Amino acid sequence: MTLYLDNAATTYPKPPGVCGAMRRALEDVGASPGRAAHRLAREASAIVAASRVKVARLLGIPNAQQVIFTKNATESINIALKGWLRPGDRVLISGLEHNAVLRPLRRLSAVGVQAEIVPCEPNGEIDLQALGVALRKPVRLVAVTHASNVNGALQPVSDILALCNEQGIPLLLDAAQTAGIQSFSVQDWNLGMLACSGHKALLGPPGVGILYVRPDLDVLPLMEGGTGSRSEDDHQPGFVPDRYESGTLNLPGIAGLAAGIDFIVDKGPTTLCEHELELAGILEDGLAAMSGVKLCRPRKRGTGAVSFNVNGLNPHDLAHMLDEAFDIAVRPGLHCAPLAHKTFGTFPEGTVRVSPGFSNSHEDMDYFLKSFQDIISRRTRSRR
Ligand SMILES: Cc1ncc(COP(=O)(O)O)c(C=O)c1O
Repeated sequence: MTLYLDNAATTYPKPPGVCGAMRRALEDVGASPGRAAHRLAREASAIVAASRVKVARLLGIPNAQQVIFTKNATESINIALKGWLRPGDRVLISGLEHNAVLRPLRRLSAVGVQAEIVPCEPNGEIDLQALGVALRKPVRLVAVTHASNVNGALQPVSDILALCNEQGIPLLLDAAQTAGIQSFSVQDWNLGMLACSGHKALLGPPGVGILYVRPDLDVLPLMEGGTGSRSEDDHQPGFVPDRYESGTLNLPGIAGLAAGIDFIVDKGPTTLCEHELELAGILEDGLAAMSGVKLCRPRKRGTGAVSFNVNGLNPHDLAHMLDEAFDIAVRPGLHCAPLAHKTFGTFPEGTVRVSPGFSNSHEDMDYFLKSFQDIISRRTRSRR
């Protein structure tokens, strides 16, 4: 059986309840939520409503209606950036941002939105002093990745918020990697916007993302269309979540996400986080002891993603060897985060990323380390 260590891309396997919830939504309910008054439509709406409540409780979103379902974190980030930034605006981003942030901003640069990178230390931590200086000039938004998808480097969000709040600048937090594994509260942090994936640490299926927009921010929707509400009016409803949820929602995906969250709540997010960080520690210690391995270590770790290189070996070749010879799934390369690799000094070749999840054990880490040692030893022998 494949040893799957690519949970930073998407978590696998999903908790046992996820498939069942999706199957029930498709087989026993099937109707479109929010669109009709018949029993099945009411049941579909109830599934969506219950899922919103679970997301809101887990992430500290004050009101479940403020939980906006999208198809992934990328869509959530696109709405946040394109709906809030206007020609001439200046936006600050960290040196760890994913292409989900960089590419929309590249597109927005064509209409005069100016993105400025606040550097991060090579250990992944944002330079708070540089952020403070950059905030002295007018800024419309600060956008920061909560934890890097390359190596789990966690940002000091409270410190970043303190600086943003002094100037009244909203913060967009890309919590694609952390929602479900790091405990935080949108309300306590008074976040401007939050974007996250349902299919990563929230343990739901692919096809569902989450967006939160603070009510005082007039963020324009990316799409208009049917919402099942105010159908007599050809203007898009102005209230959430309908303002941003045009078209039929992904009912099975949303049902599966709720089951993923049930699992997290049942196990306790802290327990899941401790487990993942412990596995990351085993990996780091084992890899650090191998000759030629160079770890890309964060100062503060927020997820279990471990990145490294081996002198003289291409990350893609290493991942291929792990796959072919040992049936181990890891991700090599730039992980859609070239800017983060520039910060870490691992651009353009990238790294091998090993990202364990809730279902992995100490034995899995031992098997990975033994297999990897085998690859390194074979290479050393062949060079003699
Ligand atoms: C930090 C970060 N932001 C955004 C994304 C995009 O997430 P999604 O695949 O849900 O669009 C990812 C996915 O890897 C990510 O790691």
